[in-house]
Amino acid sequence: MMRIDVLTLFPQIFAPMHASMMWKAQDHQLLDLQLHDIRDYTQNKHRTVDDTPYGGGGGMLMRVDVVVAAVEAVRGDDICPVILLSPQGRVFNHRIAVELSQQPRLILVCGHYEGIDERVRELVITDDISIGDYVLTGGELAAMVLMDAIVRQIPGVLGAEGGADRESHADGLLEGAHYTRPAEFRGLGVPEVLKNGNHGEIDRWRRLDSIRRTWHNRPELLRHAALTDAEKYYLATLAMNKK
Ligand code: ADE
Repeated sequence: MMRIDVLTLFPQIFAPMHASMMWKAQDHQLLDLQLHDIRDYTQNKHRTVDDTPYGGGGGMLMRVDVVVAAVEAVRGDDICPVILLSPQGRVFNHRIAVELSQQPRLILVCGHYEGIDERVRELVITDDISIGDYVLTGGELAAMVLMDAIVRQIPGVLGAEGGADRESHADGLLEGAHYTRPAEFRGLGVPEVLKNGNHGEIDRWRRLDSIRRTWHNRPELLRHAALTDAEKYYLATLAMNKK
């Protein structure tokens, strides 16, 4: 069972973790999710967690003494990744999700206000992760994005065994098109190849459709994709705008 501890000023934001697949992962004892309120680790009677920045500039920062006390109390003597969610971190992706899903334990620290005292990073943070080049009001949504992407990689969480191997990004490509009944809707049909039961042909068609979609939506991904000569030829025809 994987354990994830989340340190936040707003544990109530994590309600979505109690529904659907994230709930199922916990119910089936594949995930032990523990939410901790950083405010519980304040020493002062007003329970303040933030203060004004040295040097001015406005905004409030999370205090080093409070956040470090919270991390150390939760971590105990364990050695595990302590990840700060912040827009300054390395950008999260599928590879990082797979790597982190192999850890027995993770601690996620959600920043708030204008940021966090730099000494928190020096003292307890092992990894700084961003979910993209935009700024959120706090790290909570980012922590949930990480957890969702990580937890669905844990064996047994997804229904179909190996379901996570064939999806977008698993092989560096986007997934192609999928169809289900009805066979015709508003004049739109389903590609014949998917209906003829020839699985060799179906696999080849899916692979090319995946290359086609990646070319249109995320061409930069193709630079690192492992393509056969036939697939490179297909890509060249796309690039020449013939298909
Ligand atoms: N906190 C604020 N913005 C963020 C981002 N883009 N990624 C992770 N944490 C954040």
